[in-house]
Amino acid sequence: MYDILVTGGAGYLGSVLVRQLLEKGNRVTVLDNFMFGPNSLMDCCDYETFQVVRGDTRDRSLLAGLVKGKDMVIPLAALVGMPLCHRDTLGAETTNTGAIKTLTEVLSPQQKILIPITNSGYGVGQEGIYCTEETPLNPISLYGKTKVDAERIVLDRGNSVSLRLATVFGARKRMCWDLLGNELFYRAVNDRFIVIFEGHFKRNYIHIRDVAKAFMHVIDNFETMKDEPYNVGLSDANISKLQLCAEIKELLPDFIYIEAELGEDPDKRDYIVSNEKIEKTGFKPDYTLKRGIIELIKAYTVIVDSRYRNV
Ligand SMILES: NC(=O)c1ccc[n+]([C@@H]2O[C@H](COP(=O)([O-])OP(=O)(O)OC[C@H]3O[C@@H](n4cnc5c(N)ncnc54)[C@H](O)[C@@H]3O)[C@@H](O)[C@H]2O)c1
Repeated sequence: MYDILVTGGAGYLGSVLVRQLLEKGNRVTVLDNFMFGPNSLMDCCDYETFQVVRGDTRDRSLLAGLVKGKDMVIPLAALVGMPLCHRDTLGAETTNTGAIKTLTEVLSPQQKILIPITNSGYGVGQEGIYCTEETPLNPISLYGKTKVDAERIVLDRGNSVSLRLATVFGARKRMCWDLLGNELFYRAVNDRFIVIFEGHFKRNYIHIRDVAKAFMHVIDNFETMKDEPYNVGLSDANISKLQLCAEIKELLPDFIYIEAELGEDPDKRDYIVSNEKIEKTGFKPDYTLKRGIIELIKAYTVIVDSRYRNV
């Protein structure tokens, strides 16, 4: 059992992972500025092994104090996704990369780091060729660049693992609306139509519970997996936006989607990814895309943003 610091642990991924770490008997401290509200960790507060600190991950002295005695740090704190990073470029650079550099400076070499980055670091792939961990990284967005820089800092330092995550889907208390999958599902359930730009663009998906499972897998196998990056996605879900819409329509027959002839997707990522490296270490996801779609249809029947509507 480990003593673990999770920065950004109140977010979308953290709200699943922190609970699982506690259930497995680990001691967990979360550092978060709660920029998306306070509710996600309520069901962790009854654990005596859970500590929570409200603060900024960029605060060097705060971080230096919190890492003392920890076996491992899982830095989740970040400005996540292209739109948010473009709205606050300085915040993106200082949080997504700067705070990671500081972290490596305040940790001793024996303390472990397990960091997630985005597989959008692969940028635009080549038609029909799977991106592996050997494929050169070529991030397009500021988000992708800041996360790829963070991975390089962490892997150069050693005693660390990076998980290159596919687009994460799944229902949680803190839903992340601007992730392609989740937003698309919201529109499919509540608006029943969507206009797609560049529908042939492909990406890879993974359920949030399988992301948590991948983190647990690395923790259990750290010594054999360390100092490497691993892609984490569903190997049978390397699909285009139009294919994803078709999958949703199978379960929601009155959902209508059309591809626009004009306009473009500012997030240019378009690639297919091999997840063979982590699968060879014994990791296997539990959730299919279809199971996730059924879950999200239920979730977005519950979540309706009608603040500025009469119905
Ligand atoms: N969700 C995905 O699809 C996905 C995919 C690949 C990688 N990731 C990575 O996983 C990590 C977690 O992502 P998420 O989806 O949970 O995002 P999220 O936005 O839900 O969570 C981020 C958390 O970090 C906190 N935070 C932000 N800036 C902070 C600061 N300066 N100090 C303290 N806390 C701060 C926020 O309050 C939030 O709780 C991120 O590093 C992200 O890059 C996510």
